[in-house]
Amino acid sequence: MPTIVFASPKGGVGKSTSAVILATQIAAKGASVTLIDADPNKPISRWASLPGVPETLTVIADVTEEGVIDAIEEAAARSAFVIVDLEGTASMMVGYAVSTADLVIVPTQGSALDAAEAVRAIRLVRNMEKATRGASIPAAILFTRTSAAIRPRSLAAIAAEFAEHGVPVIATQMHEREAFRAVFAYGGTLSDLDRGQVSNVDTALRNARAFAAEVIGMLPAAGAAAPEREVA
Ligand SMILES: Nc1ncnc2c1ncn2[C@@H]1O[C@H](COP(=O)(O)OP(=O)(O)OP(=O)(O)O)[C@@H](O)[C@H]1O
Ligand SMILES: [Mg+2]
Repeated sequence: MPTIVFASPKGGVGKSTSAVILATQIAAKGASVTLIDADPNKPISRWASLPGVPETLTVIADVTEEGVIDAIEEAAARSAFVIVDLEGTASMMVGYAVSTADLVIVPTQGSALDAAEAVRAIRLVRNMEKATRGASIPAAILFTRTSAAIRPRSLAAIAAEFAEHGVPVIATQMHEREAFRAVFAYGGTLSDLDRGQVSNVDTALRNARAFAAEVIGMLPAAGAAAPEREVA
């Protein structure tokens, strides 16, 4: 079923964090999710080695460049959702994973320098579309680590620039929240976090739910034929 790929050549923009938050939110609703850790640094596998991984979530690690497409296809055949986390680089692995995607999410922090890296990721997606001569691969920008309180003008300007170039921006931003980091420290999901130890867990949960709902709304309807999808 639908495959969501997190990709950006820039390291540290929030791919793994957003991938785990999305996967756990979807799994918490009872849907089967396979999370493919296609980053040789294995951040997701480390999270999965901690307690609290939802029952409906399977993590697959040790994916090689040669095996990544097969791993995604096998996961898509048995799970309602497949989410792929990639290394912060441009590689064949990234290209292969992108070629299978129903949606590529490109996380970026809100600076112009980061946005330039996000543009590189979008170009990679466009090139994969051409290389595979397949259907279009929808891609969208996700702003991460933004302030919930302040909306800087620079961020609005960057968002407007993406819009001008026809690159969709996910309206929900992944705000800077301790709770999103804490999931990697303690394992499990946002809901499992100890509210006495971690601040603003419920605010982070609302953020995560809005993000998951918006992403699911962007996916092709389950069971739909695979026609020419709207170009992102
Ligand atoms: N929304 C967020 N709120 C708070 N901290 C965040 C958020 N997103 C990411 N971080 C922190 O930013 C750092 C980088 O995040 P993450 O590892 O998810 O990025 P990445 O894009 O997967 O990096 P890489 O390219 O190295 O795989 C981590 O320390 C993570 O805890
Ligand atoms: Mg990562």
